[in-house]
Amino acid sequence: MKSIKVIGTGRALPEKVLTNFDLEKMVDTSDQWIVERTGIRERRIADENTATSDLAAVALERACDKAGMKPADLDTIIVATSTPDTVYPATACWLQRRLGIAGSAAFDISAGCSGFLFALEVAANLLVTGTAKKAGVIGAEVMSKVVNWQDRATCVLFGDGAGAAVVVPGNGSSGILASNWGCDGNLAPLLYQPAGGTRMPTSEKTLREMAHTVHMEGNQVFKHAVRAMGNSSVKALQDAGLAAADVKLFIPHQANIRIMEEARVRAGIPPEKMYVVLHKYGNMSAATIPVAIDEAVEEGKLQDGDIILLTAFGTGFTWAAAVLRW
Ligand code: UT7
Repeated sequence: MKSIKVIGTGRALPEKVLTNFDLEKMVDTSDQWIVERTGIRERRIADENTATSDLAAVALERACDKAGMKPADLDTIIVATSTPDTVYPATACWLQRRLGIAGSAAFDISAGCSGFLFALEVAANLLVTGTAKKAGVIGAEVMSKVVNWQDRATCVLFGDGAGAAVVVPGNGSSGILASNWGCDGNLAPLLYQPAGGTRMPTSEKTLREMAHTVHMEGNQVFKHAVRAMGNSSVKALQDAGLAAADVKLFIPHQANIRIMEEARVRAGIPPEKMYVVLHKYGNMSAATIPVAIDEAVEEGKLQDGDIILLTAFGTGFTWAAAVLRW
């Protein structure tokens, strides 16, 4: 076991709610289609002045409050995001600036919707080796600013938000019992943002063609997501020497209720153990898992010693799963 302890969690969700009924007025869609095909009812949308680091800052401050410390006390800050404030420097650096802190290691992880689990894995390794003593692990996204609001196949899916966890070395009674992660970069073109990098620098043409927004082959992503989240969950449980019945809470990445359900069935987890926030927030990419964890903690659904199974899938394609003793 990698012995770590989550001593505080927090979340930040923009106030503005965009419902499926609002979307009906924007694109050719319906509440019925969105609910039946995705499970999403509404999502939060950041205002024009809010960037990813702003949401990350609020989530991290709340997590630090619960942990009884200040962001300045952290020696490591990792932000998982696909919607960084700027191409460089990292959103974690802007986050430091926003919080008025300096000195800690601060960097981003780009692993799409799997980002929070990748960041947690990196943080755990830094904590158990002594490189880090107090880590802030954040998943934060402002998806609404990279979505094509004319494309009904993608714009109905995403939402904005951030979740954070303060993680410290454990005393042997809590931590990551087993985890795995992976990527198949050959599938990268199935879900990506084509323009704005060195492959296709921003130009009038890329703007005209909306190449700076999410491009996705939804059906392909769906198929791979189900398989990867199911397989990685099963493997993590096996490696932990646990059965599905040992799991108190299953928190998969929240992109589509049908994907989550299929992954749940493949992992052998009963329906009542799956924790869902998707209907309220849509797909917040790297933020879905930490936001869900924070709400589960707040509702008293996670107690010391409980086993939780986390799994995710995203652009890359990346995937990951982790079994934690809380
Ligand atoms: O976090 C990882 C990132 N992304 C994902 O996990 C997304 C994975 N994919 C999905 O969730 C699903 O593939 C979608 C929700 C994107 C699409 O659902 P689907 O059941 O695979 O629908 P589809 O793409 O096969 O489309 C079925 C029909 C099409 O119409 P025709 O060709 O049958 O006439 C679409 O044009 O639904 C149409 N459609 C819509 N209709 C109303 C697509 N989007 C919409 C919409 N409203 N918003």
